[in-house]
Amino acid sequence: MSADAERIWRATVLTMFPEMFPGPLGLSLAGRGLERGLWAMDVLDIRVFARDKHRSVDDEPFGGGPGMVMRADVVDAALAAVEGRPGPVVYLTPRGRLLDQALVWKLAEGQGVTLLCGRYEGIDQRVLEARAVEEVSVGDYVLSGGEPAAIALIDAAVRLLPGIMGNEESPAEESFETGLLEHPHYTRPAEWQGRVVPGVLISGHHEKVCRWRLSEAERVTEQRRPDLWARYLKRKGRGTDRGGRKE
Ligand code: ADE
Repeated sequence: MSADAERIWRATVLTMFPEMFPGPLGLSLAGRGLERGLWAMDVLDIRVFARDKHRSVDDEPFGGGPGMVMRADVVDAALAAVEGRPGPVVYLTPRGRLLDQALVWKLAEGQGVTLLCGRYEGIDQRVLEARAVEEVSVGDYVLSGGEPAAIALIDAAVRLLPGIMGNEESPAEESFETGLLEHPHYTRPAEWQGRVVPGVLISGHHEKVCRWRLSEAERVTEQRRPDLWARYLKRKGRGTDRGGRKE
């Protein structure tokens, strides 16, 4: 591997369903970046690390209850195979800390991430502790497995990598970067089905447009996200207004 190839941001995915990758990550912004070698992805099938003749990855939970639990020894062997790769090992689970734009930036600014995707009821806790695995959730709802969550996390990180987005697609004004949800958008035609574009946007008055956009962003954030709104007000009081990026 050349020095450059070693340095590119790399997602390593451990999954029981390798066919799910690259999936949507092979298209659009992330897909073009992958093709151009701006980032890389390795996908490993966890089942390969099962040692018995049935290649079993899971077993019944101690204490009883529904569902199956992924075995510590199998997951450990999979993690051992990717040991030493740069970046944290993250297990995607609804029990994890919530993924937000600040964590996405932190991951994107590192050299990569190893993502462990669970199926069934979860993974034996002992291997998560033994290997200092970080637990991350993509939202307060339950997916059928970690794979769609891994795709969301990789997509969010990759679009922040240098060279992925053109200048015209800068993330600086997006939702969460300013600590606010974004203002609404409009394009031609100026009148559609009797609905007209807010006049200020066609006034040509740049400063008024900026003020209108900020007040719309504030209005929608206060209305929809009291959690973000409270944090924004606190930050504003301190004279800082950075949302996603570290200050
Ligand atoms: N696996 C199942 N649900 C999940 C969620 N909400 N976040 C991350 N991984 C998951």
